[in-house]
Amino acid sequence: MTTITTDSQEETRTFGRTLARYLDPPIVVGFSGDLGSGKTAIVRGICEYFHCSDQVTSPTFTIIHEYEGKVPIVHCDLYRLETLEEIYQTGLNEIMTAEQITLIEWAERAARMLPIPRFEVACHHTDQEFQRNISWQRFDTGMKTILFKPDSATT
Ligand SMILES: Nc1ncnc2c1ncn2[C@@H]1O[C@H](COP(=O)(O)OP(=O)(O)OP(=O)(O)O)[C@@H](O)[C@H]1O
Ligand SMILES: [Mg+2]
Repeated sequence: MTTITTDSQEETRTFGRTLARYLDPPIVVGFSGDLGSGKTAIVRGICEYFHCSDQVTSPTFTIIHEYEGKVPIVHCDLYRLETLEEIYQTGLNEIMTAEQITLIEWAERAARMLPIPRFEVACHHTDQEFQRNISWQRFDTGMKTILFKPDSATT
């Protein structure tokens, strides 16, 4: 696991552009952590790298968005989904196996469904308004520590 600290939204986007270099489709990136902690900012950075950041919206109301960049990207936000059944109904299981990059905000809601290998990113506020701690790792077979906090409703 690697942890970095950013002091602005721009720096968080820059982290996203760096992370993007490791993403070879098909691959899933699960984002967890506090509300407003920078998950979408990282998604924007990833999409800048793949030349589709102009298409990024915060998909809180529409659960799934598809972007066409240098590679296809699917961006999901599970915030409003409260049960595993609701999550299954979105078709997330099939989406995650498709030949693309799948970026999932509030991935702690679907922790048990996430494929291996995958990337995990956990974002947290600090005591400074514009500062965020971002931890990430590539989670693979045999690893025990996942970065997501357990979500009582869906685990
Ligand atoms: N260091 C930072 N990195 C990222 N965003 C920051 C930072 N400092 C302040 N911000 C602000 O925090 C907010 C982060 O919003 P963003 O939509 O990326 O978070 P999120 O984790 O996706 O939120 P949500 O849980 O609602 O999906 C933005 O308003 C941004 O301007
Ligand atoms: Mg978001």
